[in-house]
Amino acid sequence: MKHETHETVVILDFGSPYTQLLARRIRELKVYCGILPHNASWEQIQALNPQALVLSGGAKSLYDQDAPTADPKIYHLGLPVLGIGYGMQLMAKDLGGVVRAADRREYAPTTLRVLVENDLFAGLGQELTVELSHSDHVETVPPGFTALATANNTPVAAMENQDARLYAVQFHPEVVQTQEGTELLKNFLFNIAGLSGNWTPAAFIADTVRQIREAVGPNEQVVCGLSGGVDSSVAAALVHRAIGDRLTCIFVDHGLLRKDEAKQVMETFTRLFKMKIIQVDAADQFLNKLAGVSDPEQKRKIIGAEFIQVFQEEAAKLGQIDYLVQGTLYTDVLESGTAGTMIKSHHNVGGLPEDLKFKLIEPLNHLFKDEVRRVGEELGIPEELVWRHPFPGPGLAIRILGEVTREKVELLQAADAIFIDEIKKAGLYREIWQAFAVLPDIRSVGVMDNQRTYAYTVALRAVTSQDGTTADWYRFPPEVLARIANRIVSEAPHVNRVVYDITGKPPSTIEWE
Ligand code: XMP
Repeated sequence: MKHETHETVVILDFGSPYTQLLARRIRELKVYCGILPHNASWEQIQALNPQALVLSGGAKSLYDQDAPTADPKIYHLGLPVLGIGYGMQLMAKDLGGVVRAADRREYAPTTLRVLVENDLFAGLGQELTVELSHSDHVETVPPGFTALATANNTPVAAMENQDARLYAVQFHPEVVQTQEGTELLKNFLFNIAGLSGNWTPAAFIADTVRQIREAVGPNEQVVCGLSGGVDSSVAAALVHRAIGDRLTCIFVDHGLLRKDEAKQVMETFTRLFKMKIIQVDAADQFLNKLAGVSDPEQKRKIIGAEFIQVFQEEAAKLGQIDYLVQGTLYTDVLESGTAGTMIKSHHNVGGLPEDLKFKLIEPLNHLFKDEVRRVGEELGIPEELVWRHPFPGPGLAIRILGEVTREKVELLQAADAIFIDEIKKAGLYREIWQAFAVLPDIRSVGVMDNQRTYAYTVALRAVTSQDGTTADWYRFPPEVLARIANRIVSEAPHVNRVVYDITGKPPSTIEWE
């Protein structure tokens, strides 16, 4: 299924660490942008119906044995093309220019001088500071091209062939170190490629709702597993807008959610959206299965298996199900290398058995997380839910080290709620990717009201991150930490000590188990 109604740019990815950042920059300019591998066939590129192409930077040299290449047709179809870094070198080489090899590569801020008036640099001034990779570079432009800019050690830092609509820069306009990088991208997208920038959350919703309506037949039934998280909530709300009561959500409350989370989810979706939701209160069932289990992997397995069983039992009661909604994001799609359509046949999702005969609807599989949040806001999902920090499927079970008991779950929920409350009061919640309390299996000695205590330690974890793959610990103002610790020891039961985790990922993970 294609996104036909909006403008599209395709980035061919040559392996630069900045490719996703580049896509986000283009999307921030309200132009939908998809990433394809560099060796995508012309047919695959055309299937996205792009109005412009961008060739990303790369991590290799053109002169490496396995240097990535692209279908040379891309230069000859009248589509505007912008090459960046490696993308510029490849364009130069493919079209008959000379690229000089260098024996080292180093990114550095460099002063760039614009040589001639041109569309790409229009309004950007004569000199700019740019993030330039001192590596292989174009020495002689291909026939028909003009050098647009130069820098130390890089005779041709930008080039164009206006008639052929081909443009290229040796530096990275997508990184913050490049001054006016966004302006250059705007010049390319709006002035050169003639795009208008109309891809907004509202346009995305209209488009997606239409596609879902076209795909799901009038008598077909759709089911969605609501977890309380942002992704499944936004996915459910979108599908609900498209097909109303033909969607049934199943919300399995395993009793390991954050404090009041289950209540909030139910209120939002039943009262506000009037969705059909089956809430399964399975806390006892999950806790019984977890009794006596301390091994983290074992806990995950038990919860995963139990979850599927409960979900399946509930789904089976609904009769024929034709579609399952999943909150898959674009980052998952890129990671799995299966650039997909929004609606596809099911291939053993998250451990669900093969004999469940349904197709998948993945309405968010073209979006990054922050875009999902903007779509959620546009759909009217309350801010508190839309901006909620990510939460792992196995929930608090993997934040309670050692055996999970109801007493520990309640204690952790209380400490976690205080932590989050104080973060919100300090206005820091959105700066932080994820913040939560952990209950290590530790008791220690303390003193309260002149009495010796022997009680639990609570650990606090707060990290900044783009997507959870790497993370840094968050630097709280000390007075905020002090307030949090004071409140936790006085308000959460059986806690006499609070510690703060100051490790990044790597070497730690975000979760403790
Ligand atoms: P780690 O702990 O691996 O976590 O650094 C990275 C991100 O993934 C989340 N996470 C999970 N999410 N099921 C999930 O849905 C899981 O089993 C799971 N384990 C970790 C974690 O909260 C963080 O955002």
